[in-house]
Amino acid sequence: MATRVIPVDPFDLVVFGGTGDLARRKILPALYRRFCAGQIPKEANIIGAARSDFDEAGYRAFVRDAITELVPAILCTGDAIAAFCNRVHFIQLDAREDDGWETLAQIINPDRIRAFYFSVRPELFADLAERLYRHGMASGETRIVVEKPFGHDLASACELNATLAHHFDETQIYRIDHYLGKETVQNLMAIRFANMLFEPLWNSQYVDHIQITVAETVGIAGRAEYYDRAGAMRDMMQNHMMQLLCLIAMEPPAKFEPGAVRDEKLKVIRALDDVAPEDIVRGQYDASSDKLGYLHDVGNANSTTESFIALKTGISNWRWAGTPFYLRTGKRLKARTSEIAVVFKDAPHSIFGADAGRHANILTIVLQPNEGIELGVTIKEPGPGGMRLIDVPLDMSFAETLGPEAELVPDAYERLIMDVIRGNQTLFMRGDEVEAAWRWTDPIIAQWQEKGEKPLRYESGSPGPEDALGLMYRDGRHWREIRE
Ligand code: BG6
Repeated sequence: MATRVIPVDPFDLVVFGGTGDLARRKILPALYRRFCAGQIPKEANIIGAARSDFDEAGYRAFVRDAITELVPAILCTGDAIAAFCNRVHFIQLDAREDDGWETLAQIINPDRIRAFYFSVRPELFADLAERLYRHGMASGETRIVVEKPFGHDLASACELNATLAHHFDETQIYRIDHYLGKETVQNLMAIRFANMLFEPLWNSQYVDHIQITVAETVGIAGRAEYYDRAGAMRDMMQNHMMQLLCLIAMEPPAKFEPGAVRDEKLKVIRALDDVAPEDIVRGQYDASSDKLGYLHDVGNANSTTESFIALKTGISNWRWAGTPFYLRTGKRLKARTSEIAVVFKDAPHSIFGADAGRHANILTIVLQPNEGIELGVTIKEPGPGGMRLIDVPLDMSFAETLGPEAELVPDAYERLIMDVIRGNQTLFMRGDEVEAAWRWTDPIIAQWQEKGEKPLRYESGSPGPEDALGLMYRDGRHWREIRE
């Protein structure tokens, strides 16, 4: 299957935090892959900016090592890496010091698209914005890309929005949520809005419930300080899970355009129900035979931060009133898997009698690890003698459909960075969306903080705390198994 690549215009991209983990693991490999795909013009410049004491050759070696380690070998020819590294530069600077900024302003071409990627601690966002403005780099074709976390709560998110708005227009601000760049997440919109099949059924009349699971096997080691302040609610629920929920629940936008899509997502967030205390389960992972527990990983024996959260909410609008949405996410769970399952109602009457059991169609959108779509349908069990029903999946796994090219399906960051250069904000969050998401999240967090509630313990490698199962059992439903 040939992919169509439309080269973007020449650009200068500055990655603040250019020697950091995100730059190394995601941003630089993503740029390299787009370079190999022929999407990045040869005049483009990628400039790593950081406090580290690198010279240009040292930084290029850093970039080369990252690519060799993290990009599939099939794309890593010496020539391609060398050609890419020729486009890479380095500048030493500090967000809070003046040194280096004038030099940066001089090497940035004022007549080109200029993108500044804030891949740094959130405390530095305001300093970076202010310095870009002061050194004359904020106007014209300038875009800033702001990584999460975007605020710690509603007040801090509003403050950050206001600070950025002081120097940049909303059309210049790209608040990144990498889940929106994932291939299957975009596919979700194609499935819903390019097919006639599902949309008529996509409402509370036909959908029994929707469950969204983002399960990870990794712990929080290496990010202890950030994570212990955030927890699963702020780290995953307020942003990634919320975005998935929006895409699955929103009304069809009139066009696939930033304003239209973001308006519809915002309406979903604003219609979200408050979450009652009995509809929330928080957990914290314990040690297992071969892994250490959360308290050890954060180095804080008294931490009450959750590494797992499951909750039930609803959307009070005509389409969804009465359909529960169950969301769960956690670290150190049994398997790494992310999926959205749309569980349809049972047929209104079974002509096959009670013995045939209950059967519901389930449309599962698998985000990772094996991206694809599965539709569970009920069929007759083959063989003579009576009518026995079984559920079988109609399966479309990207890996099988695309063959070896599946490995080349763009990573979320590839798509999103190219969208920044193209000036397309559809897959980025608008300021009011982020604020609305915090407006829903803050009272949930306040509930357990006021009570000083501790999270439940769950064993590493398990599906999470038992009580999370209860959250659904109690409603006569059950979570789908967490499996690779
Ligand atoms: C990040 C969170 O935004 O997303 C991490 O901060 C989490 O805690 C990660 O591990 C998950 O991303 P992905 O793409 O691996 O599912």
